[in-house]
Order: sequence, then structure tokens, then C-alpha cells
Amino acid sequence: MSMPVDVQSLAKRRGFIWQSAEIYGSLAGFYDYGAMGASLKRRWEDVWLNFFLGLNDNYHLIDSTTILPEASLKASGHLDSFTDPLVECTKCGHAFKADSLIEEKTGETAEELTLEELDAKLTELGLECLRCKGPLDNVKTFNMMFPVGVGTTGGDVAYLRPETAQGAYLNFKRHFEILRRKLPMGLAIIGKAYRNEIAPRQGVYRMRELIQAELQIFMDPETFDDELDLEEMKGKEILVQTVDMRGTSEVEPVTCEKLIKDSGLPNFFVYHMLKIQEFYLECMRLPKKKFRFFEKSEKERAFYNLIHFDIEVDLSTLGGFKELAGIHYRGDYDLSRHQEHSKERMEVSIDGKKLIPHVLELSFGVDRSVWALLDIHFSDERTGILKLPPSLAPYTFAVFPLMKKDELVPVARDIHQTLRGRFSTLFDVSGSIGKRYARMDEIGTPFCITVDYETLDNGTVTIRDRDSTEQKRVAKQELEKLAQELVSGKTTFKDLK
Ligand code: GAP
Repeated sequence: MSMPVDVQSLAKRRGFIWQSAEIYGSLAGFYDYGAMGASLKRRWEDVWLNFFLGLNDNYHLIDSTTILPEASLKASGHLDSFTDPLVECTKCGHAFKADSLIEEKTGETAEELTLEELDAKLTELGLECLRCKGPLDNVKTFNMMFPVGVGTTGGDVAYLRPETAQGAYLNFKRHFEILRRKLPMGLAIIGKAYRNEIAPRQGVYRMRELIQAELQIFMDPETFDDELDLEEMKGKEILVQTVDMRGTSEVEPVTCEKLIKDSGLPNFFVYHMLKIQEFYLECMRLPKKKFRFFEKSEKERAFYNLIHFDIEVDLSTLGGFKELAGIHYRGDYDLSRHQEHSKERMEVSIDGKKLIPHVLELSFGVDRSVWALLDIHFSDERTGILKLPPSLAPYTFAVFPLMKKDELVPVARDIHQTLRGRFSTLFDVSGSIGKRYARMDEIGTPFCITVDYETLDNGTVTIRDRDSTEQKRVAKQELEKLAQELVSGKTTFKDLK
């Protein structure tokens, strides 16, 4: 029987992702992307942007700073509430995330417990330091933001941003003017966020420097539905576990209509759940049985949210369903708070109606999504083939001369030059052709083009399909057209003549 693929070591060996500053022993929670990983991440971001900015003509990509002044984070609530429960060993001083300690012991969530309740639970379970078995201190709150000193005296207090979202809120008013005073207006940011996690672990799952892709949709909750094609929801099912469904082991698909009726969720919220599900199942090709929305209860949800569902995917490398993203209805919390603290008016007027726009936030962890692609598409098979969708693979095509021979190499190079202008293409001459194919299988390259002696005779090359390992001969002149058709999905490999 073949062994399951070790995704962690493949991710390292094949150039996807590993701990940063390895030669100095690394700091926990910091990761670097290698050539394959950076390319996969970039392609995921492109697919994400294309999909979510495509939801409305008034959704745009912006960028903002990663260092924010203290006043803005006081206003956003992060200075007071962006905390985790910390418990330290009184003997060795090792720090633990108190709710995680309990969850690991009981298998149940402890996110909603107060500090006193956490203390009581730790005592009841008889939990002690996992390192030295010493007694644990009382649980206290720990703010996860990284402070930075700005300027030569370090006098201006600032923090590394804990979420990209704030950049969109701080830029809201200016963009509303620039983009012609319309709602809904969407501002997307893809970039780094920083969290001083108490216990960074499980690889990229809990990082201290992470990448988020977030879309903030500013809208009027009373008219937003009119802007959406709600008919699209008709008869469609969402894979969801609401608070009421907790305790049932299976995730039931529920029609959008039933979800809206039973749980009272707004139409616009369920419409966007459907879009997010489409993104994960169709663009990332995750299997249905491994995907679910998971509702957070009032006590569990983030301090700024009125409605909060996590998007979870069952990852074998991380031991079950894990949060990859979230859909959050933040109401007018953020703009109202910034209006109050900055004294800048966030209220707008639309057709004579004055309002502070509400925010629907679609928030994605880029690192976790990239990891999910590796986990699902490697470990689904027990073979070492990374079956990424062609639109996400680091390289769509690899071009090889069969052997490192003078007459084959320039022809292959020519093909590579032609294709690389339009597609992500790799050229490789080293090693046996079998080894080169195996390497491409492991990094997920869907198609390999090989120039052999027949190419010199009759101008044909072979195309090899990663998933079936089948090869077909096609005319060299046809390659560019065929490549385009394969990438766009107009032709499948099976249909190639
Ligand atoms: N703006 C809303 C927000 O930041 P969040 O649930 O705290 O919400 C959004 O974070 C996403 O960012 C998560 O669903 C997760 O994918 C990713 N994320 C959060 N903390 C992370 C961490 N420490 N390491 C890796 N990814 C993280």
C-alpha cells in the first residue's frame, strides 16, 4: 500500500513554503514563500480578485499602509478588544492560549468563556504546563498587536495592522468621492497583517505575519438586495452549520430560501455565502464534503460583527475542519467609530437619504487558502501528484527537449519563448524525461510539452496531461492556439485530436 504524501516536506522540498530565517533557527510564526509558492500565491490572488471584483462594477482594488497610528486602532476597538486569553506557567514561564489548552483536552470550543470561566475550567480539568508540568497562573488578556516606534525618538505610537480592513475604512470617504458617490462600493486590499499570536503553530495556520485578501462592501442594508441578482439563489444549496445545527455531526446542505427563512439572515448575506462557496468549490476545486460555513455565536464572534460565519475546510494535515476565511456583517460599527474618534463625517447622502454605510466584509486568509490547495490536491491522491486547477498551478506549461542535444534544445527554447509571453511556462533540460515529468507532477504543472526527434522530422511535439499521464502529438504551429483553449477550458485534453 502506498503511503500518504507528506505535504509539509513536499512543500519545502519543491519550493512552496518554509520557515523564514532558517539559517538562524527561525522565529515561530514567520514563513517565506519559495519560487513555486510565490507563484501559486500570486495566481490565487489573481483568481480571487477576478472573481470578487467581478461581482460589481464599483468594486476596486486599493492598497494601504501596514503601520497605523494608535488613534485609529483605539477607534477601531483593536486597542481594547483585540486580545487572546493568555495563561503562563508559574514555574518555567511558558505561555499558552488558555482556550486552546481546554479545546485540546475536551475537543469542545472554549472561545466564548470569560477569564473567570477559563480559570475555573482549567482547574476543573486539572490542566498544568505542557512543558514542565508546573502549575498555571491565572488567565489574563493579551493584546495581539505589534507596537512599533515611529520616528527617531520612537515618540509616535503606532502598530502593525492586525487586519487589512482598517485601510479600507480609513480611505472610505476619499474613495466615495473619487468613485462618484455610489453604493454599494467595494474596496479590496490584499496584503500583510500582523498578530503576535501566543502560540503560533500548525505551520501556516497560526502565523504572526500573515496575508489577507479582504473585500469591504460599503452598502445601504435597505437597498443592497436590489443591486443583486437574487434569482441566482433559487434552488441552490449552501453547506452550512448554523448555531442551531451544532451537535449534528453531518453538515446538511440547505437551500438558500430555507436558510433565509429559518435563520433570518439577510438576502444579501446568503447571496454572498453562495458566491464564496462557488469560489471555493469551482475556482479552487475543493470537494463539497470538505467545505462548510460555520456560524459563530454571539459570544464567539469578533467584537465588530453582527453576523459572523467562518468558512471552514477539512484539512488532513491540520486534523479536521479549519477556518480559512470569514463572511462578516459589521453593520455601521467601523465607520461610526471612525467618525466619532476622528470627527471626520462618514455619513453620506444617496438620493436624499443620509446614512453611515454598513459593511459586509469578505475576509480570506491567503496563506491558509494556499495551504488548503496543497493539502487537498496532494493528499486527495496518494501519489504525489498535485492536481491543482490549471488557473492556479505555478506553471501551466513546462517545455522540455527530450535530451540535452544541440538540435533539440533550440527548438524547445523557441516554443518556450513563444508560450511564456502569454502563459506561465517553465523550461527544463536537466535529468531524465521521467524525472522531469515527476517533478512537474509534484508542483502541479498540468501540461508538459516535449520536443523529440520526431519534431525535427514532422514538426509535431507531444503534450502530456498531468492527471492521466497520457500523451498526444500535436503540430508545433498549433501549440499557441491549443494552449489557449486548454487554459480557458474551451478544449479538454481528452478532446485533443
Ligand atoms: N478583517 C476581519 C478579520 O481579520 P479574522 O477572522 O480575524 O477576520 C480573517 O481573519 C482571516 O485571516 C481568517 O479567516 C484566516 O484565514 C486569516 N488569519 C487570521 N489569523 C491568522 C493567523 N494567525 N495565521 C494565518 N492566517 C490567519
